[in-house]
Formats: sequence, structure tokens, C-alpha cells
Amino acid sequence: MNKREFLRAGAALAGSACLGNHALWAASADPQSSAAGPVELSAGLVEQRLAASGAATQLWGFNGQVPGPVLRYRKGQRLDLSLHNTLPISTTLHWHGVRVPHAMDGVPHVTQPPVPQGGRFRYHFDLPDSGTFWYHPHHSSLEQVGRGLYGALIVEEERPVEVDREVVCVLGDFLVNAATGIIAPFGQIGELAGDGRWGNVVTVNGKPLAWNEVVRAGDRLRLRLINAATARVFALTVAGAESWVIAYDGQAVTPHPARKPLRLGPGMRVDLIVDFNGQPGDRAYLRDSRAKAAVVEFAYAGEPPLRTGARGAPMALARNQFSPLNLKKAVSHHIQFTGGDSGPPAIGWIDGKEISYAEMKRRYGLAWTVNSHAAHEDAHEHVPLLTMKRGETQVLVLTNATGFGHPMHLHGHFFKVLKYNDEAPAHEEWRDTVWMNSWDEVEIAFVAGEPGDWMFHCHILEHAAAGMMGTFRVE
Ligand code: C2O
Ligand code: CU
Repeated sequence: MNKREFLRAGAALAGSACLGNHALWAASADPQSSAAGPVELSAGLVEQRLAASGAATQLWGFNGQVPGPVLRYRKGQRLDLSLHNTLPISTTLHWHGVRVPHAMDGVPHVTQPPVPQGGRFRYHFDLPDSGTFWYHPHHSSLEQVGRGLYGALIVEEERPVEVDREVVCVLGDFLVNAATGIIAPFGQIGELAGDGRWGNVVTVNGKPLAWNEVVRAGDRLRLRLINAATARVFALTVAGAESWVIAYDGQAVTPHPARKPLRLGPGMRVDLIVDFNGQPGDRAYLRDSRAKAAVVEFAYAGEPPLRTGARGAPMALARNQFSPLNLKKAVSHHIQFTGGDSGPPAIGWIDGKEISYAEMKRRYGLAWTVNSHAAHEDAHEHVPLLTMKRGETQVLVLTNATGFGHPMHLHGHFFKVLKYNDEAPAHEEWRDTVWMNSWDEVEIAFVAGEPGDWMFHCHILEHAAAGMMGTFRVE
């Protein structure tokens, strides 16, 4: 395919996605562009109305929109774009889940200096894995993501599964004053040391619930769901249609019916295949039992069914290749999390001195520890939590000794979940973010990848900012 054919094929694919109208390919259709995807992401102020009646809210977004444009590539392609910072503060871009070279990981002071106001930074790397990913700043993240700086990054399989169309849904929420539309201040200690910041306006693709889609009886859709909220956890069910989970965090899983509510913690993604097996005029829903609301409402069009019976094509995704685990020779580590306002108090040291939980909160605004250390996101130096040798298999036993659930995210690697509380998952799961319930013990394994310091943190961004983060050093 030459470039024009590629763009046309891409536009045809993307045009039906629910973000299709939002300048998905606007920049890539630019004849100046030499690659798929836009050539620039400009972070800046965006006005958006979050309630039909209320005043407009000042959000932060990319290229004038919240969420930012959907970046769409094919596996093996190169992403090459420049971040332009027009925000009032410094920023960076992190490519959540993508196995990027270390220098492209977007972690301030660890992989790059923060991009100052007015500055630019060029991110360029090959996309080794297909999947549903997303991008967001990694600097003052709880505020920057909490104001709307995020977007979907889709890397298509070499041979995508056959569906009638695809819908990308970026879930988020905002905490705003309903009358004035003003965003509530960030970093309140109650949010940091509690459940994080849960917004009062839940959004799909930047619009308050529910997102509307018209489907035709017989349609098979692929839904790519991304939780970009800083703290909100979704518990999702599909009603009025038949659904299967085909990927967690973008990585293939044996297709299985999505029966129980699917927990989607911050940072996590799930891909579903949904067969609309109802009748013309019916309705179907993607519901969230936490927000007690429909997240997406599907209206079956009046046309006769597209087909009788199920579409029947295979829905298993091709797997990405990760270095094979060598569990017999693995190095294992224990990681324990403590802290938060309920449950046992955090045990911790700061600057080499033992410190009480109350003191930790009052003096430093920190509330969580990882193996007794409380780190700060904007710290200029991170003492690595663990040091590992490239190519060696690592087994981590994670113990959640807190009264809260946490989505733990590792940069630059996918890991296999070996056990949730002594039980292997029903289907092999490769993830970049794993959910731990209060008092869970979760065992994960991966092969240490490219040398460098890689972040490992809770993706409830208030928790990360209040100590629940650290780095692994690969040598
Ligand atoms: Cu989605 Cu360290 O981030
Ligand atoms: Cu957490």
C-alpha cells in the first residue's frame, strides 16, 4: 500500500469508530505528514460544557479536545510526533502500556526533563505490540489527567478480528462545581489518603453519560474501553446483547463471555466483542454498577437484521510476543503496600528516618508506602525499589496490606498474572496493570527488559502522588 491507500484504508476503518468525527485522521491526512497519526500533540486549555445547563468548564486537552485525538497505527509502524506544551505548567507524555525505548517513556526526571511551558519534545519509536493503549502526561499527573489530558492510542493487529465496526470509549470523570462549572482544587489530603478523587460528572469520550450508538440487529462490534479516570473504578456489564472479553490491557486473552461485572480500574483497558442479537427497535446497554448508570446506550435501528444467527467468525486475537518466562530460574521479590486512612497505618521511612503516619501526612502530604518507602512523583531522584538483570525472569509477590483496592501498573513491560490469592486466573492474562483488592496477594511474572529505571505505581493517581510509586532498575 502506498501512503494514500493506507490513509484511505485507515480513514474507512476509523470513520465508523465513535471518535471518528473528532479529527481522528485530521493531522495524518495532512500531506506534510510522513507517518500515520498526527505530527503534533499540543497540550493546552480547552473549554467544554460538562452539563447541559451549566457553565463551560476550563479543561486541559490535546489539539483542542478532551480526550485528545485517537492515535491509530498498525503493529510495527512508527509513532513520530512532537509534543507542544502550551499549558501553564511543565508536562511530559507517557505511552501507557507501550514497550517504548526507555528515553521515550515520558517520566520526568527519570527518562527525560519535564517539557517546560512553551517547549517541545519529540517522541518517536516503533510500536512492537498491537493493542488498546493510551497516552497521558506523567508530570503532576493527578491534576493533568484530572483536567482531561489523555487520549486513546490504538495499535491494530496485523490481521484484526472481523467485526462490523469498532467503537473506542475513553472513560473519565471530573469533579466540578455544578453551578459555576469550576473544577474543584486538586490534591486534597482526604483524596490522597482515601479512595482518590471521584468526579461528579462521569464522561465517555469527554461527554457526560451516556454515550449513544446506533446499531443494527445482527451487528458485531468491537468495543475498546479505556479507564482514564484518576481514581474511579468501573464495574461494567452488557445487557441486551451478547459479549465476550477478548483482551485485557490490549493483550489477547482466550475469548470468554463477560458474565460478572468487569472491574476496570484506572489505567486498565478491556476489549469486548459484542453481538447485537436483539430485534430492530430494541435497546442494549453497557452499564456501570458503581455509578449506577448506563455508560453506553445502544439503540437498535429499525432496519431488518443484518444477518440471521451469530456472525460466527473467530474472535481470538493474535498474541504479541513477549520473552518467554523461565520460572524455574526466576528471582522472586516481595512487595508490600501499606497506608491509607482506613486499615492498619502505614509503616514508613522518609529520608532514612522512621516516621508516624500522621506526621507523614502532615509534613509531606504522603499516605502510602511500598516496602516502607514513600516516594513522590515529582521527586528528582528515585532510589530503585528493586534492581534486576536484563533477561532474567522476575516473580513479584504483591501484598496489599491496606484497606483499599489498587491498580498496580508497571512501565515498559507486560507481565503474566500467575495468581490471584493462590489461584491462577481462569485464562492466561498478560497485563500492564493489575487490580488488587484490599488484603489480596497477587503474583506476577515478567522478563526484565530494556536497561533503565522503570516506574511501578498505583494508577489511582492520588495514591501515586502520595507515595505509592517506585522504580525497578534493570541493568
Ligand atoms: Cu498510565 Cu505511569 O502510567
Ligand atoms: Cu492505590
